[in-house]
Amino acid sequence: MATTFILNGKSQTVDVSPDMPLLWVLRDTLNMTGTKFGCGMALCGACTVHINGEATRSCITTVSSVAGKKVTTIEGLSADGTHPVQQAWIAEDVPQCGYCQSGQIMSAVALLSKKPKPTDADIDDAMSGNICRCGTYQRIRKAIHRAASTPATKAKSA
Ligand code: FES
Ligand code: FES
Repeated sequence: MATTFILNGKSQTVDVSPDMPLLWVLRDTLNMTGTKFGCGMALCGACTVHINGEATRSCITTVSSVAGKKVTTIEGLSADGTHPVQQAWIAEDVPQCGYCQSGQIMSAVALLSKKPKPTDADIDDAMSGNICRCGTYQRIRKAIHRAASTPATKAKSA
């Protein structure tokens, strides 16, 4: 069955089972591998994308549920890694193995779009569902504060 949604600003139609998780559609049908599979059970945050601007676990989101909605993946933040949050991640040298980081960044961008100057408590609350086995949490927090001090961050939030 065909489902149409807006993916990173462009209309996208896929002919898959309506029950297929959005994560599968992104990675296996559309070959967009920036969004990662970690647990498949909404426990790790590796698969985080934005649906109409809300940070959402794509592993438990059926493709039929996003029909007509705006889906943004890590690929949609910028063509070349120049989104202010990506730049803050680079400046703070956040990633270690990197596996969790696209999900971390998508949660951070969603947080900053709602709270341009988040407190540590806001960050902990918004990021608590994104697990990092490498323990990069302190650098993530610093990078979010850095991005919050960058004027362009709010304008470029997806
Ligand atoms: S893969 Fe979706 S939350 Fe872990
Ligand atoms: S950087 Fe390795 S899991 Fe987060």
